[in-house]
Amino acid sequence: MTEKITNDNINYFPSITGNNEELLDLLRKTSELLCKWYTDTNKQSPIPLNNKFKVSCPQKKGSDINNLLEEIEELIYTSFCPSHPGSLAHLDPPPLTISIIGDLIASGLNNNLLAEELSPSISKLENDICKWFSKKIGFKKNSGGIVASGGTLNNLNALVAAKYCSGLAYNNQAVLIISEDAHVSFKKCAKILGVEDKNIYLVKTDRNGSMDIPSFMKILNSVIVSRRKIFAVVATFGTTMRGALDPINEIGHICKEKKIWFHIDASIGGIFFIANKKFDNINDFYLSNANSITINPQKLIGIAKTSSLLLVSDMHTLKNTFQTGLPYVDSPDNVINRGELGIQGSRPAEIIKLWLGLRFLGIEGIEKILQECLLKKSIFIEKLDENKFEIYSGPLHIVSFLPKRINVDESNKWTLNAKNLLLEKNYMISRPLYNGKYFLRIVFGNFNTKAIHISELTNFLNNLDT
Ligand SMILES: Cc1ncc(COP(=O)(O)O)c(C=O)c1O
Repeated sequence: MTEKITNDNINYFPSITGNNEELLDLLRKTSELLCKWYTDTNKQSPIPLNNKFKVSCPQKKGSDINNLLEEIEELIYTSFCPSHPGSLAHLDPPPLTISIIGDLIASGLNNNLLAEELSPSISKLENDICKWFSKKIGFKKNSGGIVASGGTLNNLNALVAAKYCSGLAYNNQAVLIISEDAHVSFKKCAKILGVEDKNIYLVKTDRNGSMDIPSFMKILNSVIVSRRKIFAVVATFGTTMRGALDPINEIGHICKEKKIWFHIDASIGGIFFIANKKFDNINDFYLSNANSITINPQKLIGIAKTSSLLLVSDMHTLKNTFQTGLPYVDSPDNVINRGELGIQGSRPAEIIKLWLGLRFLGIEGIEKILQECLLKKSIFIEKLDENKFEIYSGPLHIVSFLPKRINVDESNKWTLNAKNLLLEKNYMISRPLYNGKYFLRIVFGNFNTKAIHISELTNFLNNLDT
């Protein structure tokens, strides 16, 4: 063995002896770049029109930090800009300032939510914030939850637990019931769980985009009569296309009566339940009959991605499903390592940015954001020419629309043209395929979008040839 352990003072890592001047300098320079990008927002388009970003791959020798700073700047200035007032396409709002700090702290600490010995305080933080959320939505004593990287993963966590806890983990005929407007993540979950398409029942939605109860009952009864087992019923609280709400009170009662696992995908709408204020047509619902609920604070209140919670009415369900023992981790008997409560093992401390975001906004701040989103959507709908457009929107902040009486081909051409023209005016909106036709869709989750932008958008759309 001729090599020696280096004593060099190379600053690959934060210094544990010096005063970290290099790190401080780098933090300052990168923060300045990021802040400049924010202040330059109005000089840019929401998304670069001709993306010129060139990827430099790793080389034999490490790169000089100044070169990297140039590359970072190029990356920043060729990125999608959620803070642009015209960024209205998706459920990706600007990040709260404090959640940017949360991510920095999480990386700086580099703790691991796999095990308590790798994240003593942050494991406690995650546990307590999930319990706080659970109480807020009306769950009782044994409730709680976990954080996973995104709504898709939490929907999967929920369905794995549903199948396992219903005693149907190895039953390949077990049935999943969702609505035709449920998020595509359930198709992914079904593939992972080995649930064939024929065992996924899609319930029709009514004219409001909500799961139709008579159709649900018909499916439910036909499956029961055929003596097959249902491992989960999924309702959506805030559909992706139009922010519609499924009748979760009724579905919850029926599932409880029939002892069927009830999962609510409240990725979009769940955050309304931590407000004290009652929002019309939203807070008449209650989530507390569910076994599991996905809530994505990344979608509405600006917690930087990813931020998603799975809340369960009974934490034993997660423990029973996922606990394997962690033979390489030393833990006291009464400790459940949080990496054993879901699919992910090693996990970043995503809870820090959510915790800081909630602390910083307070309930009043959250209410203000939610109220503004809904108000902007209402103003938009009020101003959009109802004689010209078919408008689809539930109680949440999402609206899809297209000109009346056009066929599929026309909807394709019209929406593509409108979307491109709007992009030239620095408005980025989406163009989903919904019920067989192309629509334009706007998500009013951007705090920087003001009344003037809504007027500009509606004037443009109302005057556009159809
Ligand atoms: C209703 C709904 N559920 C789940 C998801 C998936 O969330 P994620 O993109 O965080 O995986 C989305 C994404 O938009 C959604 O709209």
